[in-house]
Amino acid sequence: MKLMLGLGSRLVSVICVVGLVCSPCFANDAIEQKVDELLSKMSLAEKIGQTNLRGRSSRAKGPLPDSLKATVKAGNVGAFLNVMKPEERDELQRIAVQESRLGIPLLFGRDVIHGFKTIFPIPLGLAASWQPELAENGARVSAIEASEFGVNWTFAPMMDIARDPRWGRIAESFGEDPLLTSAFSVAMVKGFQTDDLSNPTAMAATAKHLVGYGAAEGGRDYNTAQIPEGELRDVYLVPFKAAADAGVASMMTSFNELNGVPATGNQFVLTDILRGEWQYDGMVVSDWDSVIEMIAHGYAADKKHAAERAANAGLDMEMTSDTYELYLAQLIEEGKVSEAQLDNLVRNILRIKFRLNLFEHPQRRKVEQSSILSAEHRQLAQQAAQQSAILLKNDGALPLKPKGKIALIGPLANAAHEQMGTWVFDGRAENNITVLDAMQQQLGKQNVQFAEGLAYSRVKTDAGFAAAIQAAKQADTIVFVGGEESILSGEAHSRADISLPGAQEALIKQLAKLDKPLILVVMAGRPITLGNIIGDVDAVLFNFHPGTMAGPAISDLLLGKVSPSGRLPVTWPITAAQAPIYYNHKNTGRPANDKDYVPIDDIPVQAWQSSLGNDSHYLDIGFRPAYPFGYGLTYSTFDYSDLKLDKNSVKMGGELQVSATITNSGKREASEVVQLYIQDVVGDVTRPVRELKDWQKISLKPGQSQTVHFTLNTDQLAFHNIKMQKVTEPGDFNLWIAPNAASGLKASFKVVE
Ligand code: NOJ
Repeated sequence: MKLMLGLGSRLVSVICVVGLVCSPCFANDAIEQKVDELLSKMSLAEKIGQTNLRGRSSRAKGPLPDSLKATVKAGNVGAFLNVMKPEERDELQRIAVQESRLGIPLLFGRDVIHGFKTIFPIPLGLAASWQPELAENGARVSAIEASEFGVNWTFAPMMDIARDPRWGRIAESFGEDPLLTSAFSVAMVKGFQTDDLSNPTAMAATAKHLVGYGAAEGGRDYNTAQIPEGELRDVYLVPFKAAADAGVASMMTSFNELNGVPATGNQFVLTDILRGEWQYDGMVVSDWDSVIEMIAHGYAADKKHAAERAANAGLDMEMTSDTYELYLAQLIEEGKVSEAQLDNLVRNILRIKFRLNLFEHPQRRKVEQSSILSAEHRQLAQQAAQQSAILLKNDGALPLKPKGKIALIGPLANAAHEQMGTWVFDGRAENNITVLDAMQQQLGKQNVQFAEGLAYSRVKTDAGFAAAIQAAKQADTIVFVGGEESILSGEAHSRADISLPGAQEALIKQLAKLDKPLILVVMAGRPITLGNIIGDVDAVLFNFHPGTMAGPAISDLLLGKVSPSGRLPVTWPITAAQAPIYYNHKNTGRPANDKDYVPIDDIPVQAWQSSLGNDSHYLDIGFRPAYPFGYGLTYSTFDYSDLKLDKNSVKMGGELQVSATITNSGKREASEVVQLYIQDVVGDVTRPVRELKDWQKISLKPGQSQTVHFTLNTDQLAFHNIKMQKVTEPGDFNLWIAPNAASGLKASFKVVE
C-alpha cells in the first residue's frame, strides 16, 4: 500500500498569516480571479448569505415555503442540506441562479456515507477489507447515484481515529490506525470527487470531524477530548492531512472540545494548522448547530459571541444555526470580526462552487438511463461486503458441507433494514438481499429452515426460543445470525455493554446444547464482546453491517465459494472495560508479561502486597485483547518465513528493502494481509510498541509461496518531537512482517545520521 501522506522527515512549513493567505497564494489561478471578481461585487449581506447552510428536513411536507424562496432570492443562503425532492432542489437552484442579484448557485449537501441507494458496508467494514480500492468503488457508486438526485456535496468520509468500541460512531470510522484510515479516506475522496470536481458525476467530499471527535472520554458521544499535541499531529490529524493533500473539497469541524477549546472555534486547528501549515484552500463547515453549542461548552457567552469565536477561528460556513446570519454584520461594524476575515471565509466557499463548475452547470445532470441499484453497483457492493467479513473463529465447521439441512436462526438472518447499518437515509430495505433470501436461493427452500427466535436484536424474552430450537433439532447445522440493529450504533448511540444485546446469548446457549455444528454470524456497528458464548459456537463470521448485498456475500462465504479475507481494523476487547484499547499504545515502565501474571483466582489469600509482580494488567482478564488489530482467519493457513532486510543500518533519508516469504500451507485458495510494523526503540518522546507502516493483500493457491517486498523510507519513521518538529531520530528500530499486530517475524535495524 503506497501512500503519499506527506510524511516529510522534518516539518517544513510556511506559515501564512490569515488575512494574507488567500489572494497572494492563489493569484495566478484562473478560479481565484473569478472568486475575487465575484467577491468584489458582493454586498456585505450577500457575503454573509454564502456562509449559511440551511437545513430542510427530508420528511418536510407541502410546497416550499415562500419565505424560504424569498431568502434564496435575496442571496441569503449559500447551501442546503437534505433537500431530497428533485423538483424542490431544482426550484431552489433556479431561484438562486436566475432570480438572486448575482446568480450564485447553491450547494446541496447530504450525508451519503456508505452508499446512496446501493448500500455498501459501513466504513468500519470497508476498512476490514484492507483494500482501499473497494471503498473508492463504493464512493464512486454513491456519487453517481446521489448526483442523479442533484446532491453535489457529501458529508463523508469520516476519518476520526476510534479507539473505543463503546463509541457509536466507531461504525463510521476506518478504525484505530492512522495509516489505514488515511488510505481509506483518500480512496473515498477520490471515489466521490474523481480527479476533477467539475465531472458531472462528482460530489464534493468532506473530511470530518476536525478533530479529535473519536477521542470522546468514556466513548460517550460528543464528550470532551484531551489529546496532547504530538499525538494530535501523529495520530488524529494524519488522515485529515492526507485528505487535504488529496484535494478534499471541504472539512467539517467536530462537536467536541479539544484540550479546552471547542473544535468549531479552534483557531489553532482551523487557521494555524489548516490554512497556515497545510495551506488548505478548501471550505470548512461546522457540524449541525456546533457553533451555538459553544455556548453549552462554556466557550461563548451567547450567539453573538459564538459567531465571533467561530468566524475569527476560521469557520467558513455555519450548519443550521444562524449566528452568522444574525450577528456577523454587527460584529464587523463593531470591529470584532474584520471584513477581510469574512472575505476569506467567502472565498473558500466560492472556490468550491467554481471547482464544481456550478456556475456553468447549476442544474442536475441529465440522466438518460438511471444506474441506481444497477447490477454493476450491486456487484461492487457484494464484493466489498465479501472482502470485509472477518472469520474470528473456526473449529472446522466452516465452510458448510454442501449436503444436509440448515436451521437459520437469529434476529438478523432476515432483517433487510438492519443489515444496512447506521447513516442510511436513502437505502431501502426492499432493495436488500438477506441471508435467508440468499441461502434459500442457493440451497433450496426445503434445505433452509428459518426461525428467527428473537424478532429483533434487543428482545429479552424467550417467547421465540421453542420454535427456533424445534427448527434446529431438525437440521444438521445451525447458523445463528445475530448482532446489533442498525440503530444501536452511529451518532449518539454509544453502548456501555458491547456484548450481543437482548436474549441472543441465552438463545445461543440453548442451541449449543443440541450438540450440532453451531455457526455464529454477526452483523454489528462495532466490535462485539463474545466471551460469554465463544466456547459454545464452532465458528464466528463477523461482519460490520454489510449493506444491500449482505445475503449473497455471507452465503458465499459460509458455503466456501469465497474464503473470508477481512482483517480487524480495530483491537477487539474481551470486555468494554478495556477501552480505550488500541495496538499502537505506549509501553509502561512495567509491561505486563505471562511470567509474572497471576490470575485473580490464583492469588493466595492474604498474599503479600507486592508479591504478585506489580505489572500493568487486569487481575481478572489479564493484559491481552480478545483479538489483536490486523487479525482474521481464512479457510486456509499461511506460514511466514525468510524475513530479509537488505541492510542492518540505513542512512537518514535512505531506504530499507524488506521481504518475507508467505506460503499457503492449507488446502484452499485464500488471501492474506501481510502487515509491516515497526517500533522505534528509544525516542526523545517515547514511541508506540508497534506502528503499522505498510501492508499488502495477496491471494495464494494451496501450496503456493510468494515473496512479498516492501520499501521502507526513513521518512516513514518520523514523529513529532517535544518541540513539535517532525523528525526521524537515529537509533535502533524493530520491524515485524506479520499477520497481525501481536505476532510475526521480527528483525532489527538502525537508522544512522
Ligand atoms: C451531525 C453529524 O455529526 C455529521 O456527521 C453530519 O454530517 C451532520 N449532522 C449532518 O447531518
